[in-house]
Amino acid sequence: MNAVTPRPAERTARPRHYLMCRPSHFEVTYAINPWMDPAKPVDTGLAVAQWERLYALYQELGHRVDLIDPIPGLPDMVYAANGATVVDGKVLGARFRNAERAAEGPAYLEWFRANGHPELHDPEHVNEGEGDFLVTAEYVLAGRGFRSTPAGHAEAQEFFGRPVIGLELIDPRYYHLDTALAVLDGDEIMYNPEAFSAGSREVLRRLFPDAVLADAGDAAVFGLNAVSDGLHVFLPEAATGLADKLRERGFEPIGVDLSELLKGGGSVKCCTLELRPRA
Ligand code: ARG
Repeated sequence: MNAVTPRPAERTARPRHYLMCRPSHFEVTYAINPWMDPAKPVDTGLAVAQWERLYALYQELGHRVDLIDPIPGLPDMVYAANGATVVDGKVLGARFRNAERAAEGPAYLEWFRANGHPELHDPEHVNEGEGDFLVTAEYVLAGRGFRSTPAGHAEAQEFFGRPVIGLELIDPRYYHLDTALAVLDGDEIMYNPEAFSAGSREVLRRLFPDAVLADAGDAAVFGLNAVSDGLHVFLPEAATGLADKLRERGFEPIGVDLSELLKGGGSVKCCTLELRPRA
C-alpha cells in the first residue's frame, strides 16, 4: 500500500436507492449468453434464498431497496440492472436485443411511470440498461459489441447530456459492460482489460490510470459484477484476489454467493439497478 492509498476510515458509504426483482420465476429456458445452459438444472428456491441475502444486506447497510413484481415467463427479469438507466432522476428505458427479453423493457418503464419518475424516455435503439451503461462522476461508460449499440449510446448521451464513452467488448463471456467493469467511487473503477478491444483498453488506461485491474480468475467468477456504495463493495465471494485488492484501496469488500443466478449469466450488479436522484 502506498502513502496515497485511502484507508477504510477515509472512505464513506453514501446511502443509495436500488431497484431489485425477486427471482420467483427464475429458470434457464433459453441461452443468450455462454453461461446459460437450459439442460442444467436450476434450483429456483435456492436462487431466491441467495437473492434474499443480498436484498437484506443492502438494507442492513442503510440502503433503500424498492422491488418490482416479477412476471411469469420473464425468467431474466431478476437482472434488474438491465431494466433501465437512471441518472439525475431521468429514466432511460431499456430496449433488449433478444426477443426473449423484449417484454422486460416496457415492464420496467411501467414501474417507473407508476412510482413517480416523470422524466422518462422510451428508447428507439437497443440498450440493455445498466448492464451496458455504468455511471462515473464524469462519464457514462457504455459497452457495445454484444448487446447495446452505438446508436443506443448516442441516444443515452442526448438524453442525459453527459459524455458517453463507448467501449468495445470482445469476449462473449463478458457480453455486458457490468461483467467486465465496475464503478467503485467517483471516477475510480475496476475492470478486466482482457474483455476489451485494444483501442478500448487504451481509452480506459488513459481515463483511469489508477484503476484496479482484475485478473482472469477473478473475472471468470464474475468478480467485476459488483456494486459499491463508496465504502462497501458487494461482489461474488469467489473473487478473493479482487477482494484483497479492494481492501488495500481502503474499501470493505463483502462477498456474496449468487451461484444459482450465475447460471443465467449474472450476479450482484446484474440484480441491482441504481436509481440516481437529481443532484
Ligand atoms: N440471462 C441474462 C442475459 O443474457 C443475464 C443478464 C445479466 N445482467 C447483467 N446486468 N449483466 O441477458
